[in-house]
Amino acid sequence: MTPHTMTSSTHPARPRPTAVATSRLDPATWWRTAVVYQVYPRSFGDSDGDGTGDLRGITERIGHLERLGVDALWLSPFYPSPLADGGYDVADYCDVDPRLGTLDDFDDLVTAAHARGIRMVVDIVPNHCSDQHPWFRAALAAAPGSPERGRFLFRDGRGARGELPPSDWQSHFGGSAWERVDDGQWYLHLFAREQPDFNWADAQVREYFHDVLRFWSRRGVDGFRVDVAHSLAKDMTEPLRSQTTLDLNLPDDGTDPLYDRDDVHEVYRGWRRVFDEFDPPRTAVAELWSPINGRTYLYARPDELGQVFDFSLLKSPWSAAAYRAAIDRSVADHAAAGGGLTWVLSSHDVPRHASRLALPADVTIEDWLRSDGTSPAVDEAAGLRRARAATLLMLALPGSAYLYQGEELGLPEVVDLPAEVLQDPQWERTGHRVKGRDGCRVPLPWTTDGTSLGFGPAGTPWLPQPASFGALSVAAQDGVPGSTLELYRAALRLRRELETLDEDFTWQATEDSALLHLRRSNGWQCAINFATTARPLPAGEVLLASAPLVGGLLPGEAAVWLRPSDAPAADAD
Ligand code: GLC
Ligand code: MG
Repeated sequence: MTPHTMTSSTHPARPRPTAVATSRLDPATWWRTAVVYQVYPRSFGDSDGDGTGDLRGITERIGHLERLGVDALWLSPFYPSPLADGGYDVADYCDVDPRLGTLDDFDDLVTAAHARGIRMVVDIVPNHCSDQHPWFRAALAAAPGSPERGRFLFRDGRGARGELPPSDWQSHFGGSAWERVDDGQWYLHLFAREQPDFNWADAQVREYFHDVLRFWSRRGVDGFRVDVAHSLAKDMTEPLRSQTTLDLNLPDDGTDPLYDRDDVHEVYRGWRRVFDEFDPPRTAVAELWSPINGRTYLYARPDELGQVFDFSLLKSPWSAAAYRAAIDRSVADHAAAGGGLTWVLSSHDVPRHASRLALPADVTIEDWLRSDGTSPAVDEAAGLRRARAATLLMLALPGSAYLYQGEELGLPEVVDLPAEVLQDPQWERTGHRVKGRDGCRVPLPWTTDGTSLGFGPAGTPWLPQPASFGALSVAAQDGVPGSTLELYRAALRLRRELETLDEDFTWQATEDSALLHLRRSNGWQCAINFATTARPLPAGEVLLASAPLVGGLLPGEAAVWLRPSDAPAADAD
């Protein structure tokens, strides 16, 4: 059966998106060292003034990404969606949500990006779709035991009349992961009830996603970000096993019923065969929020996706020991598995690192985002200092770095969004206990004042921007020495000269437990000071610093890039 969505490939012929024009990176290995910039489409730029960001709004602002110097743009879901989970509930995998534009707009964006040497990555959501997807509607209309239901995970309930959910499995957004339908059966949804889980044991589901990957690859997409990549293979043998801890305490041996099972890798070996149908082969990065262990980098193996998000820095508290341990472990795990190294500090799922890094050690993110108005305040200046330093460290590590829109402006988490604007399903599903992830999804500020701070030509942004955003806008920071925007631009410019596929690096000896000092094989060095007081600066030519150097010292909570004074200068490109 041809998925209904494939009809969109009969879209009127237009010039196909061109190959990437000017990238310095090799088509076969670009992703290994790429700086990838995540765009959350509804919050980047609004071209038509309806308050929601859209694809044309990204194309119009592509110059920002070019000046920033990123290698690729990753688009969070832009597909038709009822937005029960910010677009991660996909109703049609091969089209564009009309509120965000059209397939023509998508092609224009790919063309504009490629013309500037920026590659395109799109989000693929394979664990679940929207309850409005035609396959799920057909499943509801069909009888228990039908092939239509077989593409999802329907089960009879427990209890005398099947009135109890089939197992104790929990949804990530709160409450049971099972929802009952009119005829009494239940279906599994690991996320919101509007996000029914696919049955990946079903051959049609596997084929369907192969076709989705081909559809976007033919439209010029260079890579894919794979949502909740570790959950596709589930142990559905009866009786269903108990599992109430979500994936936070996963065993590291593949024995959990829901997550990170060995057979999930078979799925990705199939995807690799699809990627290899294209020239250059497409690539992908797996997303999994399980604990980082020896199994994490298996998703990145060369015959699978190539990369997996490494959230170890993102999860580390602000301490030299924690950062060093995280980095060492990731480097070792990655080397054992093969594939590419990655680093991440922020995304659309976590509080922005400019705020998060200032949380006192005893305050959890949940406590901080409490809905009762008693959230402890954080020291925003300290957060930004630490964020800028951590970013320089991340960008000096071998491998690829993923940036989240707005971090180049040093945007803080918006903690005081009023309850009536919150849209994250966590808010409702937890009975208004957890505010959720809207605070990092507030539309970007482009100008210091005016309608929606330049986000759109008119209209009210779908989440309100705080007054403080004006002073952090692109216009306010453009050309301002020392601004976070100029720091990111300078870092990415230098990184283009200094980055190398040679991943070797060594930690330089230091007596000081608050300092980390690494040296890459080509002499490029990064020193970061986690203490609040200044330290002697290591010897070398200073290339870039996250804070002004005073009296030849490395300030507190700052990082610096250095090159040995006797090292030959790298070729500028
Ligand atoms: C991933 C996404 C997140 C989404 C969830 C369910 O973790 O990053 O935003 O809510 O998957 O699709
Ligand atoms: Mg719009």
